[in-house]
Amino acid sequence: MQGKIIWYLIMLLWKQKRKKKVAPKVKPALNGRLLGLGLFAFSGLSLAGLALFYYGTKIETRRYRLENLEVETEQESLMPLIAAVNADDATAKAGRPLRRYQNLKILHLSDLHLSGQDDHKVEFIRGITDDDYDLVVLTGDVFEFEHGLKYGEHLLSRKPRLGAYAVFGNHDYYDYSILNKTLGRVVRKLRHPAQKKDVTPHAQALVKGGFVPLVNESVHLADENIFIVGIDYPGIAPEHLQTIMDRAPAAALKLGLFHLPKKLDMLAQAGFHLAFGGHTHGGQVRLPGFGALVTDSELERHEASGLIKRGSTTFHISRGLGADPRSNIRLFCPPAATVIELRHGLYV
Ligand SMILES: [Fe+2]
Repeated sequence: MQGKIIWYLIMLLWKQKRKKKVAPKVKPALNGRLLGLGLFAFSGLSLAGLALFYYGTKIETRRYRLENLEVETEQESLMPLIAAVNADDATAKAGRPLRRYQNLKILHLSDLHLSGQDDHKVEFIRGITDDDYDLVVLTGDVFEFEHGLKYGEHLLSRKPRLGAYAVFGNHDYYDYSILNKTLGRVVRKLRHPAQKKDVTPHAQALVKGGFVPLVNESVHLADENIFIVGIDYPGIAPEHLQTIMDRAPAAALKLGLFHLPKKLDMLAQAGFHLAFGGHTHGGQVRLPGFGALVTDSELERHEASGLIKRGSTTFHISRGLGADPRSNIRLFCPPAATVIELRHGLYV
């Protein structure tokens, strides 16, 4: 009996010891599983990141779209004058002067950033310009590298009824380096290269293609009484703009072209009915439910593209059809050109 008890105690002690030896093995197993899960998650996230990067750089940048918008503007400032002129008219007596509409179909192109490898983009542009437009407007960053100049004469398949007009952007004027695009974001001095380019070859390439480049200049289309002003990058002094606007005939429809959205309130005060801009690329990278991360301009994030208002002026900010090839990634922000059906109310 005693022997049995001693044997039982020995067995108990041995089991206890064994338990103690086995217990520490639990931790490495758990750590190993956690490490495995971590590696799995890291690999998954890396793969998803790579897939998103591939999609953003190789696929979405080529998903060109043609979008349509309707815009209404009106010649408000002439109302009292016209009402007085039409005093005998029954409609005027009722306090509502006669009204007619000027309808225009305008194609807005922007930020083409043409380098030497843009056959697909130019093919898209030639496809959409093979239509009946009253006007085509191009709001800067037309050429990225000199090799892109060859495309200038091929952009328009058909001449728009009232012509095509263009302004230049910062990428027309500067050959940016990677330093400008990285450190330049925080150090203002490095934002642009020291040397501004001569854009004469750019202007020649556009003229060959049927565009009229406007460098702080205006044109008046007398038959339709349309006054177009092209504001050069990076902007224009208020007095200079006022001098130009003073030349606009009474009751003219006033259209503005610019690249960088800057001092939009000043442009509104100058009396534009509709003005077209670019530069933002719509943010280029947009997050679902959040929108554009940046606009690279005075605009708020929700104003990164589309129609916005300042005073009684309507602005259309284009997402553009390209970007600097060195940073051309687009997410949830496909490149676009826009057809604007403008209905401008006039009091006659
Ligand atoms: Fe641009």
